[in-house]
Amino acid sequence: RIYAQISAIGGYVPENKRTNQDLEKITDTSDEWIVKRTGIKERRILEDGLATSDMAVRAIQNLVDTYQKKLSDIDALIVATSTPDMLMPATANIICEKLGIDNVWAFDMNAACSGFLYALDMGASLVESNRYKNVLVIGADKISAYVDINDRSTNILFGDGAGVVWLEPTKEEGILDALLQSNGSGKDFLNIEAGGSLYPASADLPIDEKHYIKQDGRIVFKNAIQAMSETCLNVLKQNDFSIEQVDWLIPHQANKRIIDAVGNEIGIEEGKTLVNIEHYGNTIAATIPLCMWENVSKFKKGDLLMLTAFGAGFSWGASLLRW
Ligand code: ACO
Repeated sequence: RIYAQISAIGGYVPENKRTNQDLEKITDTSDEWIVKRTGIKERRILEDGLATSDMAVRAIQNLVDTYQKKLSDIDALIVATSTPDMLMPATANIICEKLGIDNVWAFDMNAACSGFLYALDMGASLVESNRYKNVLVIGADKISAYVDINDRSTNILFGDGAGVVWLEPTKEEGILDALLQSNGSGKDFLNIEAGGSLYPASADLPIDEKHYIKQDGRIVFKNAIQAMSETCLNVLKQNDFSIEQVDWLIPHQANKRIIDAVGNEIGIEEGKTLVNIEHYGNTIAATIPLCMWENVSKFKKGDLLMLTAFGAGFSWGASLLRW
């Protein structure tokens, strides 16, 4: 079997910070409440005039510089995002143009917070097919463009960022398996309703009505814990692994309490779960590659990594890979 392996990784977060103290000045909230209920202290916010593609390009440049990769080797480029620069063309096309590469199969994929896991499995399948040798998988979102700064139920949670991995073939073990699932009945509990064909910009809706991200936090919270825990246990079972064999768990960073609850449910040893939510909040499709990027020096060859995510849709999943 040909496996796909992650041979390089990059990341980017904007410099501008939005701290809990900043939010205390805008809405009725407190640093103490936010830290206790979410684990978040600050998020990064991309400046006006820049978009998701700009962060992705910087993450890719970081990867190329660190690992001496050649952009001209890229065969396919997949962007997981739910905040594309424009409805069309795909943000993947815009990224290619900014990087100065062409003749690449480049496309977007939207599975919200699970987007990176969906795109990673798609990218791995392309490599395993033996038709594509070098595939870039990007998770990038400028979710701040859809956050109502006056809504304390969402403004505390989200930040902007981008992460990227480079996949290539290996005869050793690489990406082993993934279990990816969805259930559209979750659509009413977490969404951005306007901007698509149902409520296009031309419908001239009041901006506070449907253009911002809305959620039922408690329902999302409960479903996230249950879905991620079950899927992690199932993907381990179908590969005959026990939780003790997992070296690192890299969960989607939505809420520290969700991460802790999933860790307890699946029984992972303390210290094996990687968390960086404190500094970035929920960066949607970027949380997992950003967390891997920041912790890459901890991974040893042969380590078993488990990634898991949950998000709008609902969509969720878990992946297993050998480093
Ligand atoms: N600051 C201060 N008080 C607040 C705030 C705030 N920002 N928000 C709510 N409160 C108050 C409420 O009014 C309520 O007060 P009451 O008890 O007097 O009625 C109290 O705090 C508790 O409110 P809850 O909504 O029950 O708070 P909860 O503990 O559920 O935390 C939160 C809310 C953080 C949104 C949580 O539900 C959550 O994280 N849900 C998951 C949402 C999520 O992650 N969505 C992202 C996309 S999906 C994903 O990535 C998994």
